[in-house]
Amino acid sequence: MKQSIIINGTKHEINVDSDMPLLWFLRDELEFTGTKFGCGKGLCGACTVHVNGQAIRSCITPVSTLVDKQITTIEGLSENGDHALQRAWLNNKVPQCGYCQAGQIMNAASLLAVNPAPTIEEIEASMQGNICRCGTYQRITKAISEAADTLSKEA
Ligand code: FES
Ligand code: FES
Repeated sequence: MKQSIIINGTKHEINVDSDMPLLWFLRDELEFTGTKFGCGKGLCGACTVHVNGQAIRSCITPVSTLVDKQITTIEGLSENGDHALQRAWLNNKVPQCGYCQAGQIMNAASLLAVNPAPTIEEIEASMQGNICRCGTYQRITKAISEAADTLSKEA
């Protein structure tokens, strides 16, 4: 029997080589192209998705290690693109070229899930592995802080 993984709530049979990194499975097999390829070596964060709520680098995570786990990609973070982080991203006009931003948002979402009221230092420490070649770091930090405030008011 084929093994499967659950992506954004839907079960998908693993019909590829089990060594294939999740990023390739997402982009090439399922056409979830919101998750980006940056370095392919776990160094930049462009490919960040959640596995059971935790941020991981999908470029270095073989699909075979994810059987029956819950994967969330940027497409599944919210139903209508209206997660507090996505709203704060728009409000603060965070992206420049945009390439790194899905990974940034997914990493930020996993931070807020465990630390709903992070300090600026905690945000910077948590986000330091997500590289932005356009240098949008200040806006990213501001947007995460704003999203945390919004979530605390909405709770
Ligand atoms: S593409 Fe995965 S960390 Fe850079
Ligand atoms: S917005 Fe261009 S790499 Fe981050």
